[in-house]
Amino acid sequence: MIILKSTIELNNWFIENINEFGENMGFVPTMGALHKGHASLIEKASRECQIVVVSILVNPTQFNEKADLESYPRDLDNDVIVAEKAGATILFTPTPKDIYGGTPYAEPVDYGLITSTFEGLSRQGHFDGVVSVVDKLFLAVKPNRAYFGSKDLQQVAVVEKMSSERHPKIKIVSCDLIRDENGLALSSRNIRLSDAGILVAQNISQELQIVAERVKEGRDVIDSVEIAKQNLKNVEGLELEYISGVNDQTFSISTENRGWSHIIIAARVEGVRLIDNIEL
Ligand code: PAJ
Repeated sequence: MIILKSTIELNNWFIENINEFGENMGFVPTMGALHKGHASLIEKASRECQIVVVSILVNPTQFNEKADLESYPRDLDNDVIVAEKAGATILFTPTPKDIYGGTPYAEPVDYGLITSTFEGLSRQGHFDGVVSVVDKLFLAVKPNRAYFGSKDLQQVAVVEKMSSERHPKIKIVSCDLIRDENGLALSSRNIRLSDAGILVAQNISQELQIVAERVKEGRDVIDSVEIAKQNLKNVEGLELEYISGVNDQTFSISTENRGWSHIIIAARVEGVRLIDNIEL
């Protein structure tokens, strides 16, 4: 694996190696602090592509809280090990200034419900930043396929929309959500949780699992979500932001008891914002 620290280094590498990577380049954009969730994307990309570019950039424009940006975990030494082991060919580590061509700024985007509900509502400006950086990274890397985790379910919908408009030749590949042995969805932010916080956070996936099982048994989605909501509100140390049935294509908040593909959730534990979802 080679490490390229700027778009100039990346372009030079592409020019020198143009014949070697052909038409099959995979791209996995990340913000670093890589864990097994990221590794699963890189592994899938390396099974399906000739070369795999993994980018690491803590993108300032997608953070709506300054404290979250400042405390976002950074561990490049470990990232190098994880990315290489998972099969990355190139680790691309540009600075925000390099990618944005100056002071980072994100144009507002409006894709209707997929940018205005749930994560779009809770984290104002967040998807503007995601769209902006993924667009710019796609322009820099020019991949054939790009891999995103369904852990960030709404992000996948937003990126698919952006890419269909601005990069129609790039195939967006949605990858499975990876959990730890206790069901907690892996996230770079999990390392900010204490052992007690991890136990509290496990309630999130446990309740999602219960809702999915109830729905499978034929129970009402709204009722099942309501029960989970009440249970989670009683968990000490957990602040529920939302839990809802949703359609992963439209993100419409339907009051009718059909058309849902997933249950999505956001909650805070020890000040750390966690999201998770389960397919119905
Ligand atoms: P980051 O949170 O680092 O995640 C990078 C990719 O890894 C995303 O596609 C995310 O969905 C995926 N991922 C994270 N945790 C996962 C898990 N437990 N299982 C499966 N996939 C998981 O998402 C971002 O960065 C940024 O918004 C980015 C797309 C890089 C733009 O800045």
